[in-house]
Amino acid sequence: MNSSTTPPENIVLIGFMGCGKTTVGRELQQRLGYPLVDMDQVIEQRAGKPITAIFADDGETTFRDMETALLRELNDPEAPRRIISTGGGVVGREENRALLKDLGYVVWLYASAAVILDRTGRNRTRPLLNTEDPAERIQTLMEERRPLYQETAHLKLDTTGLCSDEVATGILECARYFFTNRA
Ligand code: S3P
Repeated sequence: MNSSTTPPENIVLIGFMGCGKTTVGRELQQRLGYPLVDMDQVIEQRAGKPITAIFADDGETTFRDMETALLRELNDPEAPRRIISTGGGVVGREENRALLKDLGYVVWLYASAAVILDRTGRNRTRPLLNTEDPAERIQTLMEERRPLYQETAHLKLDTTGLCSDEVATGILECARYFFTNRA
């Protein structure tokens, strides 16, 4: 737990690759006027190369270490309120899950494996899905991660059939309730 007396009121988006975290993050940023921190983007800027190159040159562990380091930095009670959009695998480490919960209101954007396959099939920017059988990889990773998203999130939001505008509205209503009623 961070040391502030008032816990931070960030909105944190978690969920599988292709579930819409970046798009919904931008929508929330526009509505609230809070800065948006897209963790993947920050990591790419710091590394000076795309995530595919970080995985290829330095290995997944280096990428995961960068994720954890960034989460520790974001956990700053003095920082202004922000929207934080995470990478799909951020929940893999126990330390990360604790840091995420400390950061504010954690929303799990859920989409089905079929939707994820359709969305992620359009580009090759995700090293974990650059395999012979991305559908099988999605299925396996989703099963592995489901309990981790579940344990980390304050809210699970099924995005099926919803546009980013509707998802953002749902998040804002629930977040207001959460922050108002939090002890
Ligand atoms: C990953 C998801 C990606 C990115 C990296 C690893 C994962 O982010 O962090 O390729 O392990 O699920 P998105 O969820 O934004 O695609």
